[in-house]
Amino acid sequence: MKVKIQKFNPAKDAKPYYKTFDVPWKKNMTVLEALMYVYENLDPIAFDYSCHGGRVCGRCSMMVNGKPRMACTTPIKQGTDITVEPLKGHPVERDLIVDRTEMQDRISSIERRINSKPLEPKDLQRDFDPKIKQKLDDLEWCCRCLSCNAGCPVLNNMSDPEKYIGPAGMRAIALRHYDPNDEGDRVLEAVQNGLFNCILCGECDRNCPASEIKHVEIFKELRAEAEKRGIKH
Ligand code: FES
Repeated sequence: MKVKIQKFNPAKDAKPYYKTFDVPWKKNMTVLEALMYVYENLDPIAFDYSCHGGRVCGRCSMMVNGKPRMACTTPIKQGTDITVEPLKGHPVERDLIVDRTEMQDRISSIERRINSKPLEPKDLQRDFDPKIKQKLDDLEWCCRCLSCNAGCPVLNNMSDPEKYIGPAGMRAIALRHYDPNDEGDRVLEAVQNGLFNCILCGECDRNCPASEIKHVEIFKELRAEAEKRGIKH
């Protein structure tokens, strides 16, 4: 099969370019295995991975045939060629490695709890509605691969980055919204970060490796709360 890979070394290339490699297909081969074959036998391409778990480290997310996919768990069908490019929406460090720091730092800062006084572990509410607990457990599955953002048509076509934070940031806001130990006004924060600019298309649900996270469902709940409170968008 042919594996076409976008290559780019910012230190010496004026722009990205593609190189195509012949890779012998084998049963159950994943995109990551094809990249490893190229690396070990044909060209020392740069790519990132760690866990092989599909949704643990989140480091192997990249564009496969134009869609965000986890390289470690994405199978290649017999008789198909693939095109592999770096994950959309981030500066390329080298070949398939991108720098996700900006968005990941933003998510970390959103996920920091807002409280009027610092909470000690003993102050944390742990006994609350099991339905909310389930929601929090589901939202915690995010591995910060940012596949949801890479496939979001709103983010991909937006000229003003202030208009919508994207599904990854919105999930972080929702996590703290449902968290009984957080005192921030997360509905207001969601609206200020473009909650109503999301078109509820569901691409984030389709591209996220964690099926537990129901982006569209939680965005609809946040919208309903904003509307109930009359928060303008
Ligand atoms: S290598 Fe960790 S999610 Fe793919």
